[in-house]
Amino acid sequence: MTDDEAAAVRNDVPEAGVPVNRYASAPAWRAVDEYFSAALVDEDDALVAARESGARTTMPNAEVAANQGALLGLLAQISGARRVLEFGTLAGYSTVWFARAVGDGGRVVTFELDEQNAAVARENLARAGVADRVDVVVGAAATSVQTLIDDGTEPFDLVFIDADKPSNPIYLAAALELTGPGAVIVIDNVVRDGAVVDEHSEDPRVQGVRAVVDAIAASPELDATALQTVGEKGWDGLIIARRR
Ligand code: DHB
Ligand code: MG
Repeated sequence: MTDDEAAAVRNDVPEAGVPVNRYASAPAWRAVDEYFSAALVDEDDALVAARESGARTTMPNAEVAANQGALLGLLAQISGARRVLEFGTLAGYSTVWFARAVGDGGRVVTFELDEQNAAVARENLARAGVADRVDVVVGAAATSVQTLIDDGTEPFDLVFIDADKPSNPIYLAAALELTGPGAVIVIDNVVRDGAVVDEHSEDPRVQGVRAVVDAIAASPELDATALQTVGEKGWDGLIIARRR
């Protein structure tokens, strides 16, 4: 597919009520996601509502897929995370997965730039019954996270970086200030339809991914891998890192 053809697929008129996908997604990829999510992912009404309310945010359809949300929840549970820090709330879909994973007495702090998105997220967190264990912090994440660092906030066990991509290296550096040994760091959207391999890309989001890959590679503190994924969200991927 040429770039123009790929763009045409991305901008295709969606089915009624379905937001335009952010990346081209083959019907077969979507069918497999639907199959696994229907079989294995236990979304209740609150999670469905949170996912669908992404359409009311400034970035419709940017939330993780149901099977990816379940992966995030499982990573939090497998690592025994009690405190999760999230960069990029949107409607709070992944936030609900984390909040449920950390359980009663756990804590999630999530950063959102846009007040309207934060309002949608707060509705979703209340509906999911986890509002009391989540702080939605509105503002530029780089500023909000510096406040946490300056306040000497208790370390987090898992950090999910899923906000503006050019700032990925800043968010990783902050995550290293706010975590200890054994902490898990997950970064979303690191493949971007394959664009990540273009070292000359003029897209600052691609350069933000490449810079954070370089920072992880150079860090003696981190073991990491990256996986490309296909599915209803198109061709994208995740970095998963663990602090030594
Ligand atoms: C984009 C951002 C996301 O967090 C995502 O999951 C998909 C796409 C974007 O910047 O286009
Ligand atoms: Mg994302």
